Amino acid sequence: MDIKKLLQKMTLEQKIAQLCQFSARCLVADETGELTGPAKDLNLSMKDIACCGSTLTFADANSMIAIQKKHMELDPNKIPLLFMHDVIHGYRTIYPIQLALGASWDADIVKKCSRMSARESAAGGVHVTFAPMVDLVRDARWGRCMESCGEDPYLNSVMARAQVEGYQGNLDSDEDICACVKHFAAYGAAESGKDYNTVDMSEYNLRENYLCAYKSAVEAGAQMIMASFNTINGVPSIANKWLLKDVLRDEWGFDKPIISDYSAFAELVNHGYCSDEKECAKAALDATADIEMMSVCYLRNLTSLLEEGRIKEEQIDECVLRILELKDKLGLFENPYRGANPEKEKALALCPEHRAIAREAAQKCAVLLKNDNILPLNKNTKNIAVIGPWSDVGMLGEWPAHGEPSETVTVIEGVKNALNNANVTMAKGCNGVLNELPDDELINEAVCAAEKADAVILCIGEHSKQSGEAHSRADITLSPAQIKLVKEVCAVNKNSVCVLFCGRPIVLTDIIDTVPAIFVAWQPGTEAGNAVADLIFGDVNFEGRLPMTFPLHLGQVPIYYNQMNTGRPKLVPNQIFTSGYIDYPNDPLFPFGYGLSYTSFEISSPVLSKTQMNKGDKVVVSARVKNTGAVAGKTVVQLYIRDLFASRTRPVKELKGFEKVYLEPGEEKEVSFEITEKELAFHTASGKFEAEAGDFHIFVALDSTSKDLVTLTLK
Ligand code: NOJ
Repeated sequence: MDIKKLLQKMTLEQKIAQLCQFSARCLVADETGELTGPAKDLNLSMKDIACCGSTLTFADANSMIAIQKKHMELDPNKIPLLFMHDVIHGYRTIYPIQLALGASWDADIVKKCSRMSARESAAGGVHVTFAPMVDLVRDARWGRCMESCGEDPYLNSVMARAQVEGYQGNLDSDEDICACVKHFAAYGAAESGKDYNTVDMSEYNLRENYLCAYKSAVEAGAQMIMASFNTINGVPSIANKWLLKDVLRDEWGFDKPIISDYSAFAELVNHGYCSDEKECAKAALDATADIEMMSVCYLRNLTSLLEEGRIKEEQIDECVLRILELKDKLGLFENPYRGANPEKEKALALCPEHRAIAREAAQKCAVLLKNDNILPLNKNTKNIAVIGPWSDVGMLGEWPAHGEPSETVTVIEGVKNALNNANVTMAKGCNGVLNELPDDELINEAVCAAEKADAVILCIGEHSKQSGEAHSRADITLSPAQIKLVKEVCAVNKNSVCVLFCGRPIVLTDIIDTVPAIFVAWQPGTEAGNAVADLIFGDVNFEGRLPMTFPLHLGQVPIYYNQMNTGRPKLVPNQIFTSGYIDYPNDPLFPFGYGLSYTSFEISSPVLSKTQMNKGDKVVVSARVKNTGAVAGKTVVQLYIRDLFASRTRPVKELKGFEKVYLEPGEEKEVSFEITEKELAFHTASGKFEAEAGDFHIFVALDSTSKDLVTLTLK
């Protein structure tokens, strides 16, 4: 399709329509031909929707085909609609939430998961998914931690790339969908962990930590970017010319569509940044925002802004061209329905191949936090009690797309599937509501079940709907009801294992000394119960590592491993006039990068190929890692670097590489990482991204707390 020619024959009204995105519900009239629901709220007419450019949130392939067919009849230029959807952690087969994927430290499984959801959703008619979300998170109170791969810029960048590659492939097959990276930028740094809240941070922090993963997604070829709801240093993202134009377009070379988040154009008024919707349209267009999601600032105001000479038609043309180019790239002008195929959609939904991927992912993401020789449970155990509010609940996570909790394997089902002849009983113990107080009757029932059982599986933590968008929590400890339940059950049955479901780090300090064993299962998706049983009975080993610090106390939040040293670091407990608290230590309960296994590993001190390095040169650091236990297992070897003195203060440690290593019992391997200037570089005081001469501490370790280091000098 000759896009430029097409643009020439479009009227201004038709061009503006391309920039509008309405939900599919807005595009479908009722029996009387009237537009209802959100279309009415936006005051849309049939004329407004006739040539709009894209839609979001539609039911399935059949509805996509019907909507597109109708649209092609109405649109005078026969420009197909782009269909977008929130396919975040699966479409119909649901895999673990992104925070869990971060815990896998395994880009291959992450890519496989994204690929699977691309296949399923493409058959459902999706062209663009609003994923991956790559917002860095440091505050566990924020509800959307569950959508992020965690607190580390490097880990997030690796996972961002894996997801984009998984979704998009080469974009040449109708099983490929476009990735829309979000929420640009620093949405995860919302003050106090409250969703949509203000972000105020230095450009140094922004570039060093928060922008890395978006950049990695852009470099991986992501086809769209969603601007975030928040302000950054006083300017809301969708109107932030510095962020969208100077950094994203000019510095990073991103020439593809930028979309707003839901009604974020109109919210510029609430922010107090624009006085009315006309000013919202002007500010967003000047920032080069292309698509307006679910508000009508562009639709109602671009014409008059143009007539008044406050914007130029070329600005609109540039946006339209970016959108038409994407439609052309996807081949929509030749086939507006692309991959939409109701039969295929049905055939792929929950197919055995996809269930197997979801199960493997859930296994790889789980993190074993404590095990006093309780796990794995013996498969010959005769009487098992599954206790807790989430024993028989499908844990799909907050964005299950078309996943059905009823089609999800619960823990009780998984345990029954794993054991042939065991007597499996269940007791809820509490209802799982937030801040719930203990109900003695429910707890007694659970204690009775625990007394009679040979082993207990306690399913505690958060329900999928207790994290996610607009689900921030001021208190991320367990409820009094759950704490009492865990304590009383563990008191009567020493073979009690806790399975923690959550979409964020939870403060476990109240129960950690009580429970003999606990692991984090996150929100594991369709195959939750089977994967949990695979791990509990030792059919597979744990290999996950924490992608986010688990605090010792709520008051430590935000807490993250790659902090600055400060002028007065607390080196020993109770050291006064140092940076810390007088009532609690600085250390978390479980650090970033931590996780146990059914075997044990030892790692040697790191060794450098040479201790001095010239600019432009490279060195290799290596360490030997050994499986010192009795079963095979995988560990994650992690490379951390600290720049000792620099033109800006540097973090105490930063992850710069990792490798997952499989070892048979007794086996030993050497793991090496190449260090170049890139690993040593940062945004210096002179504004450049470069390495400064001096000393660097290099750690090769099994979590972020290691003190075993070698010194490298960059000359
Ligand atoms: C708002 C959310 O912030 C965003 O992540 C999502 O993609 C859009 N709504 C569309 O559903």
